[in-house]
Amino acid sequence: MKLKFGSTEENVVTREEFPLEKAREVLKDEVIAVLGYGVQGPGQALNLKDNGFNVIVGQRKGSKTWDKAVADGWVPGETLFELEEACEKGTILQFLLSDAGQIALWPTVKKHLTPGKALYFSHGFGVTYKEKTGIIPPADVDVILVAPKGSGTSLRRMFVEGRGLNSSYAIYQDGTGKAKDRVVALGIGVGSGYLFETDFYREVTSDLTGERGTLMGAIQGIFAAQYEVLRANGHTPSEAFNETVEELTQSLMPLVAENGMDWMYANCSTTAQRGALDWWKPFRDATKPVFEELYNSVKTGQEAQKSIDSNSKEDYRVKLEAELKELRDSEMWQAGAVVRQLRPENN
Ligand SMILES: NC(=O)c1ccc[n+]([C@@H]2O[C@H](COP(=O)([O-])OP(=O)(O)OC[C@H]3O[C@@H](n4cnc5c(N)ncnc54)[C@H](OP(=O)(O)O)[C@@H]3O)[C@@H](O)[C@H]2O)c1
Repeated sequence: MKLKFGSTEENVVTREEFPLEKAREVLKDEVIAVLGYGVQGPGQALNLKDNGFNVIVGQRKGSKTWDKAVADGWVPGETLFELEEACEKGTILQFLLSDAGQIALWPTVKKHLTPGKALYFSHGFGVTYKEKTGIIPPADVDVILVAPKGSGTSLRRMFVEGRGLNSSYAIYQDGTGKAKDRVVALGIGVGSGYLFETDFYREVTSDLTGERGTLMGAIQGIFAAQYEVLRANGHTPSEAFNETVEELTQSLMPLVAENGMDWMYANCSTTAQRGALDWWKPFRDATKPVFEELYNSVKTGQEAQKSIDSNSKEDYRVKLEAELKELRDSEMWQAGAVVRQLRPENN
């Protein structure tokens, strides 16, 4: 259906419009092979299974991830296979390896993409940056995308709670004439809230911007800046952390999620209200040039190249650990660990 978001009309699909029974009917003859059992793999595979679809998991053996799949109830030789065997058995291949891992496995996946199958992504990365990744699917398969707007962990958690994470969907190539039904059915099957339409390019550029921006990069940057200013002016770690992070995550954001920011501004003290109204625009103006620089770096392919170069290195996980340690050992997040322990529900 078409829905208005402000004055812009968009194509969306709701669960009422495309119920689970219809999704099951569309995919009744398909074998959905979820390739990779990292973060998205478990969320999507388990939700599909619990929703009654025919799902198998493909995962390389001899890694901890294989054991995790077994622990989650996937049975070796029945519903859990080596990657190549899963590629052979699946009629829909859900390519949920890390984006760097997808480059490495592509020759194997391509070999098993026989006419009529579908290649499914949760990120537009591999296909959009095909010159860098080499991922160029054959013409007689569907190439589709469902990108849950959140972590695979939340996708599963919200499904179990009877809620749903919103996802975007896109069709890059309709090789069979069935791509639209297949992609929407899969979007409903993995437990999406509502689905909104995009294309592979827009998905990848918005996603790379969002995760580097307000969702992860910018938010940590703003936390660190405020925390440092408070500490430099003699505030204790407890006070600085509570005023910077804890109040936001525990109290305000759930309310903003429920009601929007205007409600939040209307339902705080008049002192907070005046200050927030005066200061949000200077913060917007100060950070906008950084967001413009970021978007440009995404648009020119620089961010994709950097990801491919660093994530494909053998010592990627070792170097990552060192960078995460820097964050974990920072005073702000050390304070955070103590504050989390002190939450009544953790005692
Ligand atoms: N993370 C999220 O919540 C999220 C959200 C939205 C969209 N997405 C998209 O979903 C896709 C999957 O992301 P993810 O975060 O779930 O990935 P991830 O956790 O990094 O994926 C790890 C999986 O890929 C396998 N793998 C990595 N390199 C491999 C290689 N060279 N050969 C064989 N297997 C390899 C891993 O196996 P081992 O453990 O054996 O190494 C593991 O099964 C990506 O396209 C991502 O952009 C992710």
